[in-house]
Amino acid sequence: MIVADDNGCARIGGIELEAVAREFGTPVFVFSGDAIRQRVEDFRSAFEAEWRHFELMPSLKACPILGVRALLTELGCGCDVFGPGEFEGALRAGVPPDRISVNGSIKDESIIRKAIEIGARIVIDSPREASLINDIAMTMSKTVDVLLRLKPDLGDFSATSDFAPDVLIAELSQRIKYGIPNSELEDIVGLWPSLTALRLIGFHSHIGRHSKQLDLWMAWAAAVSAKVMTLESLLADIKNPVINVGGGFASQLDADLDVVNRSGDTPPLTELAKTLGQALRSGLASSSRHWSDWILELEPGRGLHSDAGLQLTTVRNVKRETIGQTRQWAEVDTSEVFLDLHGVPDDCPLQFSCVSKKTAGSLECYDVVGLTCNAEMLSLDTLLPALTVDDVLAIYPTGAYLEPMAANFNALPRPGSVLIDQGEVKLIKRHETVEDVFARDII
Ligand SMILES: Cc1ncc(COP(=O)(O)O)c(C=O)c1O
Repeated sequence: MIVADDNGCARIGGIELEAVAREFGTPVFVFSGDAIRQRVEDFRSAFEAEWRHFELMPSLKACPILGVRALLTELGCGCDVFGPGEFEGALRAGVPPDRISVNGSIKDESIIRKAIEIGARIVIDSPREASLINDIAMTMSKTVDVLLRLKPDLGDFSATSDFAPDVLIAELSQRIKYGIPNSELEDIVGLWPSLTALRLIGFHSHIGRHSKQLDLWMAWAAAVSAKVMTLESLLADIKNPVINVGGGFASQLDADLDVVNRSGDTPPLTELAKTLGQALRSGLASSSRHWSDWILELEPGRGLHSDAGLQLTTVRNVKRETIGQTRQWAEVDTSEVFLDLHGVPDDCPLQFSCVSKKTAGSLECYDVVGLTCNAEMLSLDTLLPALTVDDVLAIYPTGAYLEPMAANFNALPRPGSVLIDQGEVKLIKRHETVEDVFARDII
């Protein structure tokens, strides 16, 4: 994403990164609109080649920055939201209500009422929710479009999870709380004839980023479609029901910090689309509808956003030790709490590069360390051009999950965000202030 021009200036989307750092201040998250546009196009072209009705419903949690979401809205994407905050965010970013999928556990009355009022659809996660949604819709004299969130069983699929390399994906995916437990699903099926205000438009599932291997996606699509076939008769009388296989697709750089095992390459989206397409087509062979009548939905988070963002930070001091050990520390104005890094990073997948030195010259070795009173070892033994105070470093990729996971340790105000899109650069989220940090305190 970062391109150096003939003069050695590091740019994205034609905009010089050092100038962005000077204009907007650091630390700052930078998102590339061009990269997001390209990724949306890549998902669409790969999946539309395999599936007649395809919908992209990016998951807001990965990048809940409304300026970025507004771009996805402009590009015609729907939106998966978790909970009332993200629901409100999607609406503020202009997502049409009927393109919002209200997901998440323990939905309360207010989020259900709001979804019904404005015509957003609801993904049911338990029998309690099914009854509650039905009761509320009845009091409002409305019917509501719903999906059932399934917990398909991977059976004897024997690969382990990249989140926890000692644990089988089949076991972990059942253990994780989300989805309607299979025994409770039977209760819902029993209750269904009485839930007259619910209009079942399809089925939802999400396994997550357990593996990049295509055989997981083949097994997952087979398990999802097998489960869906046992429930098809509950569907409302609609021509095009939804089969949603969630997110969990690795990005090309696959540098997400919640993943322990990142070995192996991320398959191209065209391969993922072929694998999912084939497995779903054969899984839906016994459907009373033709497979092409089903709408295939995906909810990518990291797979869409990760590689489209970076963070800029400024070198505030350089320390050197020459007695007993030879070491240089580049002290920068970001922190592990803005990068979701903790402890001593023996395998930090984030890249650190200097964007303010036009000619790199010979490289020197630095421990890049952050701002708080923690040890703040962001990147050890990092080769960078000889650094001086005010040099600017880019840290990438930081496009998914890092901004919403940033914390206020040491009462640090969190970084703002900038969007570079089609040759223009704009602030899309202001920097937090110390005033903001203490705004909720009461003495
Ligand atoms: C329902 C749902 N869909 C999509 C996603 C996005 O997952 P990822 O960022 O791994 O693609 C999540 C993440 O937790 C999720 O819970």
